[in-house]
Amino acid sequence: MDIVYHEQSRCFHLYNEHISYIITVLRNGQLGQLYCGARIRDREDFTHLLELAPRAMSSCTYEGDRFFSLEHIKLELPAYGNGDYKAGAVELLQQNGSRITEFSYESHSISHGKPRLHGLPATYAEADDEALTLTVTLRDALTGMRAELNYTVFRDYAAIARSVRYVNGGNDTVTLTRAMSLCLDLPDCNYQWLQFSGRWARERQLISRELTQGVISIGSLRGHSSHQHNPFVIIKRPTADEDKGEVMGISLVYSGNFLMQAEVDAHMTLRLMAGIHPENFAWQLEPGKAFQTPEAVLVYSDSGLGGMSRTFHQLYGKRLARGMWRDKPRPILINNWEGTYFNFTEDKLLDIARRAKDCGIELFVLDDGWFGRRWDDRGGLGDWTANPTRLPNGVTGLADKITELGMNFGLWFEPEAVSRDSALFEAHPEWLIATPGRNISHGRNEYLLDFSRPEVVDNIHDQMAAVLGSSKVSYVKWDMNRSISECYSSALPPERQGEVFHRYILGVYDLYERLTAEFPHILFESCASGGGRFDPGMLYYAPQAWASDNTDAVERLRIQYGTSFCYPLSSIGAHVSAVPNHQMYRITTLSTRANVACFGTFGYELDLSKLSGEELDEIKVQIEFMKRYRELLQFGRLYRLESPFEGNTAAWMVVSADKRQAIVAFYRILNQYNDCFTRLHLRGLDPDMLYRETQSGAVHYGDELMRAGFITSDSTAGEIFFGMMPSSDFASRLYILQADKD
Ligand code: DGJ
Repeated sequence: MDIVYHEQSRCFHLYNEHISYIITVLRNGQLGQLYCGARIRDREDFTHLLELAPRAMSSCTYEGDRFFSLEHIKLELPAYGNGDYKAGAVELLQQNGSRITEFSYESHSISHGKPRLHGLPATYAEADDEALTLTVTLRDALTGMRAELNYTVFRDYAAIARSVRYVNGGNDTVTLTRAMSLCLDLPDCNYQWLQFSGRWARERQLISRELTQGVISIGSLRGHSSHQHNPFVIIKRPTADEDKGEVMGISLVYSGNFLMQAEVDAHMTLRLMAGIHPENFAWQLEPGKAFQTPEAVLVYSDSGLGGMSRTFHQLYGKRLARGMWRDKPRPILINNWEGTYFNFTEDKLLDIARRAKDCGIELFVLDDGWFGRRWDDRGGLGDWTANPTRLPNGVTGLADKITELGMNFGLWFEPEAVSRDSALFEAHPEWLIATPGRNISHGRNEYLLDFSRPEVVDNIHDQMAAVLGSSKVSYVKWDMNRSISECYSSALPPERQGEVFHRYILGVYDLYERLTAEFPHILFESCASGGGRFDPGMLYYAPQAWASDNTDAVERLRIQYGTSFCYPLSSIGAHVSAVPNHQMYRITTLSTRANVACFGTFGYELDLSKLSGEELDEIKVQIEFMKRYRELLQFGRLYRLESPFEGNTAAWMVVSADKRQAIVAFYRILNQYNDCFTRLHLRGLDPDMLYRETQSGAVHYGDELMRAGFITSDSTAGEIFFGMMPSSDFASRLYILQADKD
């Protein structure tokens, strides 16, 4: 890993074993992009990669020089309007109404490690030799505005982290109306664009689009990263697949409104952009004030989508997630939501907990409904004290009883929300996000608190800290069940209303930061009506996230498969729920439900008193299995084998770091009559190692399993011959491969 500055050519080369990122100071002082991709040999000068060439009808910077045109030069911090006609990475509204800027080189510095981003989540380095950071400071002479472009290259990951800090060094107040975290100009557009989109209960579905001249983008204007689009995109060469080929993933470490965009220009070059959505964004910067953009992370892989995902998993699992739970296998939990919804008493909860304990479950999570006037979803939010009818002994009493059973206790909060029917609303109606004189739309009968106001965050902090500090709570589920509408803060002046969305999310981060610091033993799980805020920003505070309110095993195949492109398995909240499933009304076997949920943080979300003795026995076996293998299931290397987006089957596997152990999962959605022969070509194994499949006892070398394949043919609908397992719809199987001792 190194960052080299070549004085003569003014080129910076950031590299490690896997990746090179090369930029240069251009003749006009702007920062130019020269190369981003697989590691290449360093040399004194890379500026020939600029490809300065005259093109008809182009705007040129210098009179008499038709070669230097910002229409064609690849830039690191482009601004629309000075010859570059694509969408820019920065826009500054100045006192005279102009938005034109000319950011040019002022200085640079290279430092060991990676500085924290003030108030924002970001990847980090634990030791100085893990990363190097380059800061290039550009200055717009007319306004005095400085842009500090930060680039971190990691020793162990094919990744570059980028962010920009703006500092107003001038005498006038200016307004940032566009402040992207990353802009990457690439010399061609021969890529496919993959995005992870959907809607409530159908999050992160893999969608592939072709790039062609024009703009494609995804984003959120809902105040949270959203169920609709995840702040993550991939560009891949058309021939790249899971195993091979060039792939780049771009992920934004942010939980609010975002934009990710690809613009292909007339000469088929590609500009990628990621950052805060410029719509509804306007940030006033007085002289001396600074604005920090969120961080964007770019991962490069020349070993296909799988290689890219494993880099994200390692980087985000080890150097984005934090705290004592980061590297720990996660507790097997039971959550009462789908078991009881709002219909519970303390006795009912204790009954579920006792049965759960008997099955070997380690953590009991009390979901929505335990507080204030919360009889249903119309009241109570904002009052974080126990509802005395529901919990006569308070949270403390229930937590004591659960812990006496030998289980840990977890609790649900929705810190950002408030109900009209609550003491908090009665005391502070002005604390709502609401536009004066306008209707306030509700979502699920609730309203959002104005988290851009520090006193609101303080109030919720104090209420939550009082509960967490006085009861034996070891887990918190932090929910958020509606999007922001009529966005306005009555605490801010008119000219600052464009800051509310971002200030809101900064308030959320502030509360997370305080609570995780004060209660480091607590495992936080983020949630937003399922997976409406499943993003890297949340992962920094909460190492796991509830992936979706859809708990149907078949739907979960796609949701979890899509999620796995960026996020580690240790972050994917997945539970076994009752059948018929509450969202899909589908009946799947208990075994298939567990075989899907075990590739995640694993738990149960049903009323155990409604299960038969046989089912409870099966659950006990599942829990023993999970306890034995959760380290591998949550922290092993993931290899996707068959996509549920492409056919009737899905398959994936995890392999231990030493390659001595693997678990392969095979799922067939609908049974087929007289189906074809099937085999999986396994991945990630040691070709020379002999593996024993523990159930059948059969042994195979790794090379055979990866090349010839692992046979999964079975007796599909039709005749069943002796020794063949009968199969039906929604079938699934797990295979454990263990290095053979001999
Ligand atoms: C939405 C969450 O995703 C569910 O798991 C549950 O916690 C409900 N909210 C409770 O209101």
